[in-house]
Amino acid sequence: MRKKLSVLLVVLFVLLSVGVVSAAEYTIKVGNTQPMGHIYNQGLLRFKELVEDRSNGEIEVQIFPSSQLGDERDLVEGLQLGTVQMALSSTGPLGGFVTEIMVLDLPYLFKNRAHAYSVLDGEIGQELSKGFVDAGIRNLGYWENGWRNITNSVRPIYEPEDLNGIKIRVMESKLMLASLEAMGASPLPMAFSEVYTALEQGTIDAQENPLAVIYSNNFAEVQEYLSMTQHFYNPALLLISESFYSSLPEDYKEIVRKSASEAKEYERYLSILADERLLGKLQEEGMEVNSVDKDAFVEATKSVYDENAKMIGEGDKEAGLELMNKIQ
Ligand code: PAF
Repeated sequence: MRKKLSVLLVVLFVLLSVGVVSAAEYTIKVGNTQPMGHIYNQGLLRFKELVEDRSNGEIEVQIFPSSQLGDERDLVEGLQLGTVQMALSSTGPLGGFVTEIMVLDLPYLFKNRAHAYSVLDGEIGQELSKGFVDAGIRNLGYWENGWRNITNSVRPIYEPEDLNGIKIRVMESKLMLASLEAMGASPLPMAFSEVYTALEQGTIDAQENPLAVIYSNNFAEVQEYLSMTQHFYNPALLLISESFYSSLPEDYKEIVRKSASEAKEYERYLSILADERLLGKLQEEGMEVNSVDKDAFVEATKSVYDENAKMIGEGDKEAGLELMNKIQ
């Protein structure tokens, strides 16, 4: 009898240590598209540490990087279905779930990071978050993807005209597509997991992303030019499935919210550091970096605001314009 019991205990110990069974009361699977070295996952590691520590291991956080659980749209659908508990997603695909959030995809919307943080962490950010609950999702905070810049394999881009004829991958966002079109490029929406191969095979010439993404995904191997357009400030939302969140006891909800907010500050800090450090590294990897005529890009994309105000205002153009003005 005693022998049987010790065999059972050994089996249980092995299963626990390889993660086949979990000692935790709740398990949070959190998915994202980026490799472990990227700022998203460094921020999520901090979140995991805080949550597991504060819940004495009763909440376990499992991180799934590199699109293991799907691209950003798949992840958000997973949150709605309850197959994924949490996801970190840039705003790109989110307009398909909550129309108003598309306002954040407008080109040259924010003057600088301080402006973006004050809008996102303030009343406007809270208002935009409310829309998610009806979609079965909760926004735990605006983390940072960062300022998006254009890379390509054809020529340096100094002004919008240089984009003529360039096939560029964009996120699945109507506003991002409209913005790149207004710049004169030929944009093509595509899920992120397909981008490296499409660049390698020449199906597309270009893509646009923050430096941290360009670096972590080795785009220097397949892209020669990096032009510092900074055309979108791109937040990333830490989202949780509403049905999972409601199933948590109040004290665990508080732990999750507080930890998400603290990890957000850390992730934003890493994003700032990445912008400072990675330009030199990308040059070392062979990329030719250039600055651009930003005023010309602002001018070329101005029409995107008026043309999309009705959509952002969910049929009410004045409401859309008012929201844009409030942010600016
Ligand atoms: O380009 C994208 O799709 C996004 O910026 C990415 C890389 C998935 C990060 O959120």
